[in-house]
Amino acid sequence: AFQEALARVDSEAALYELQVAYLGKKGTVTQLRGEMGKLPPEQRKGFGAEWNRVRDAIEAALEERRTYLKDQARRLDLARVEDLTLPPLRPPAGTLHPLSQTRRRLSESFQRLGFSLAVGPHVEHSKYNFDDLNVPKNHPARDMADTFFIRPHRHPGFDDHSDNDAAMRLRAGELVLRTHTSPVQVRTMLTQKPPIRIVALGTTFRCDDDATHSPMFHQIEGLYVDRGVTMADLKATLMDFTRDFYGRRLDVRFRPSFFPFVEPGAEFDIGCPFCGGDGCNLCKRTGYIEIGGCGMVHPAVFEACGIDPEVYTGWAFGFGVDRMTMSQHAVPHLRHMFEGDVRFLEQFP
Ligand code: PHE
Repeated sequence: AFQEALARVDSEAALYELQVAYLGKKGTVTQLRGEMGKLPPEQRKGFGAEWNRVRDAIEAALEERRTYLKDQARRLDLARVEDLTLPPLRPPAGTLHPLSQTRRRLSESFQRLGFSLAVGPHVEHSKYNFDDLNVPKNHPARDMADTFFIRPHRHPGFDDHSDNDAAMRLRAGELVLRTHTSPVQVRTMLTQKPPIRIVALGTTFRCDDDATHSPMFHQIEGLYVDRGVTMADLKATLMDFTRDFYGRRLDVRFRPSFFPFVEPGAEFDIGCPFCGGDGCNLCKRTGYIEIGGCGMVHPAVFEACGIDPEVYTGWAFGFGVDRMTMSQHAVPHLRHMFEGDVRFLEQFP
């Protein structure tokens, strides 16, 4: 019976129970020894010797089993640690920043609508950022309080993009961090002949810092120049854009406004993508959300870029990518977008 029970023992705890059952104070073998007193004296010696032999055998068997179990456990443990077929522990994977997600979706949408991507430098010449865009010398946007000016001698690597640039001598106040993506309009028109159909998407800079403004932000700019281009084309294109980007065609509303590089100029709103125009909290019950500025390219801009305004017309628009991303995800403070806090970022898988 002992041998059978021993073979069934599969843990050290079970082994200990078996040991108690046989050799413990009330164990079967221990109790058997009490029987010895009942035997006639001449048999006691033989019984004692036999009892000792049985007890030693049981102890030895228990010990052997214990060693075996320990060994077995260690082997299992080692096998577990050394299992090279287990998949590796994966480091937590990052995700695309919500802004990058919007930027990608925007450029994909406009490319589907037939626009090519154009780029320009972040450190821009004030000629492209202001003068050629018909911004007068005394315009408040050129103020030190709005624009980051660059000391040219600290930036010998300023990248000249056209022959015009090479002839320019850089003086203090001539280099700025671009305050909008509109200088890419100028760069494009200086180097390409119409028809022109581009979007420029990138980082822009202004001395602004509060809940809805950051000194570094992002804009997307659109430009379309050809013969006979009208403002109706602009509105239709923006509506087509909403269909592609938001999955349904939303209304586009122009409100008269002024930008030196367009005439006529407008600010444009789109039907609220959340309520479709019925009025919700995100559009403050107006049914519309403000997007950006737009208008017909000013003849003075065409002239600065060597395009004949008697032959060609065109339109341009520009809007903030950060605000669009914020309203889309109801982000309360622009700061969240640039702090890199994982608790914020992991909400945008
Ligand atoms: N550049 C303007 C801004 O930054 C936006 C704009 C672009 C307006 C194109 C009209 C045409 O506010």
